[in-house]
Amino acid sequence: MTDAEIKFENSWGNQLRATSYAKLEFPNTYYLAYRDLPEIINKHATGKQAIDFGCGTGRSTRFLKLMGFSVTGIDISTDMLDLARKLDPTGDYQLVSNGNYAHLGRNSFDLIQAIFTFDNIPGWENRTNILEGLRDLLKPDGKLICLDSTPELYINEWASFTTKDFPGNRHAVTGDIVYDIMFDVDDTRPVEDTFWTRPDYIELFRRAGLEIEATYQPLGRMEEPFTWISETKIAPWMIFVLKKQASDSAGILVKPE
Ligand SMILES: C[S@@+](CC[C@H](N)C(=O)[O-])C[C@H]1O[C@@H](n2cnc3c(N)ncnc32)[C@H](O)[C@@H]1O
Repeated sequence: MTDAEIKFENSWGNQLRATSYAKLEFPNTYYLAYRDLPEIINKHATGKQAIDFGCGTGRSTRFLKLMGFSVTGIDISTDMLDLARKLDPTGDYQLVSNGNYAHLGRNSFDLIQAIFTFDNIPGWENRTNILEGLRDLLKPDGKLICLDSTPELYINEWASFTTKDFPGNRHAVTGDIVYDIMFDVDDTRPVEDTFWTRPDYIELFRRAGLEIEATYQPLGRMEEPFTWISETKIAPWMIFVLKKQASDSAGILVKPE
């Protein structure tokens, strides 16, 4: 199936979902997505100019602002952006279309963060095009942090999610739609995500001219105040820290074979 044939509804592109998501902070399994990010960001990024790609209702953007970043949140959903602006009236939130980010400033950003955004983005071509657009916004030493669900998220039980009603998830291959139900929001209709394996993330980054600097898969700790289910043994999230692939002296990307 080509990218053009893919029909995938952005799970967050409607008002009910957006309102439900706006109340979500960092409960349960979500805590693990954000717990180690300050340390990871401080270790890998220098400078304070940031883009929050797929900012949603602004949770991840406000998080970066609290870390002292000057942030522009970008998203394709007007419903999500409307709520982000309500929750953070002084924030900078902008509507974008896929791959068109040059107006934000090429070679201008120290950090681009994409939290749970690629879980909602179908298609190799589409993803590659988007990542190339984001890569061009980075300063030469800028970093892109991409945080998404692990493949294991869709076949286990979690403090924040159930997947047991979706046995089809077990047979998913990259690009398939997988399902879960979120416990921490009012809207408990199944959420659709795009499944993507680790090797295919690595291949995707290579195609987009990005190099992996580090990966992290945070696990829950027994002493934490949550009722962990799988979280202490299986990582629900994977975090990739990416940088621009090296270019030769003429500025041409040197892509590995
Ligand atoms: C699950 S929400 C995460 C929001 C936020 N990053 C957070 O952690 O709270 C995913 C967001 O990605 C946005 N999104 C999906 N596809 C996108 C695309 N192609 N470009 C920009 N944003 C996109 C959705 O509209 C949604 O707001």
